Amino acid sequence: MRVLGIESSCDETGVAVYDTERGLLSHALFSQVKLHAEYGGVVPELASRDHVRRLLPLVDQVLAEAGLSRQDVDGVAYTTGPGLLGALMVGAMAGRSLALAWGVPAVAVHHMEGHLLAPMLEAEPPAFPFVALLVSGGHTQLIKVEALGRYELLGESLDDAAGEAFDKTAKLLGLPYPGGPELARLAEQGVPERFVFTAPMIDRPGMDFSFSGLKTAVRQAVARLPTPLSEQDRADVALGFQTAVVRALEVKCRRALQATGHRTLVVAGGVSANTALRAALDRMAAKERGRVYYPDLRFCTDNGAMIAYAGAQRLLAGEQVDSAVTLHARWPL
Ligand code: KG4
Ligand code: ZN
Repeated sequence: MRVLGIESSCDETGVAVYDTERGLLSHALFSQVKLHAEYGGVVPELASRDHVRRLLPLVDQVLAEAGLSRQDVDGVAYTTGPGLLGALMVGAMAGRSLALAWGVPAVAVHHMEGHLLAPMLEAEPPAFPFVALLVSGGHTQLIKVEALGRYELLGESLDDAAGEAFDKTAKLLGLPYPGGPELARLAEQGVPERFVFTAPMIDRPGMDFSFSGLKTAVRQAVARLPTPLSEQDRADVALGFQTAVVRALEVKCRRALQATGHRTLVVAGGVSANTALRAALDRMAAKERGRVYYPDLRFCTDNGAMIAYAGAQRLLAGEQVDSAVTLHARWPL
């Protein structure tokens, strides 16, 4: 079965074709980063309009790259939430309409399930059951995953998501949007332990997270430094911040492995691209006699491949939607 996947929940237009026998056939992504950069964040109205402009040409492109015509597509999957409603509307309406016109089933995909399953696109995919750490710009969640669709929330952020904390701290340090990857790059030049921030919530039981207090601690530390900040000061603060976030994520992931007895940890979402996080989690899992699986770097942040994959699994399980399109700005997994 070949499934066309469409992602448009935020500022990336992603389209891909996944074949349940041959794997990922093609994928294409248009990032709107440049469009939103001058505003310092995603402008929903601009995002929707740009999805309208990019989406159908990307569909043509992925079909051509896969050497397929529309008759070869057996199903269409699209993200229906969580995300920006106007942006979701574009991908969902396009996907639903294509399925209707092509006479194939359509399936609605939860964006976070897409992230969660992204490591399944790799040559050595993880096997169920596992613990998943989802760390994106909008979510930070630990989930016990028994099988496709069998998810139990173990813990989540009580305030900012990890990616959001990266982005806000990056802004504070004067880095351009989107700041997460920029901050991570800057941290590589940082002097360890010049700034030591307490890893939030690690002294409390449970598996929840909180990142807004850390952001405030960073702001206070920055306020004590001479302005304008030197490049070294910024790098040192960036490293202190990143170390505290990574430590908090690592401690709660260990707890989740111990609480569930699972040995496999899956980490996905934009922040799973972070090198320091990967190193810390790999070390922790080795001590727990476990193993960590990540998506390819191309599929850590938003993309169409993860939606095509998740949609294909849902279609294989017999799911499909009627002609109504229902969107969810917020949507628990
Ligand atoms: O999953 P994603 O593309 O979008 C959402 O669904 O939110 O995640 C984007 C988030 C942003 O906050 C971005 O700054 C962060 O992932 N991010 C990173 C890195 N790459 C992306 N944060 C830290 N280190 C990175 N290397
Ligand atoms: Zn995402």
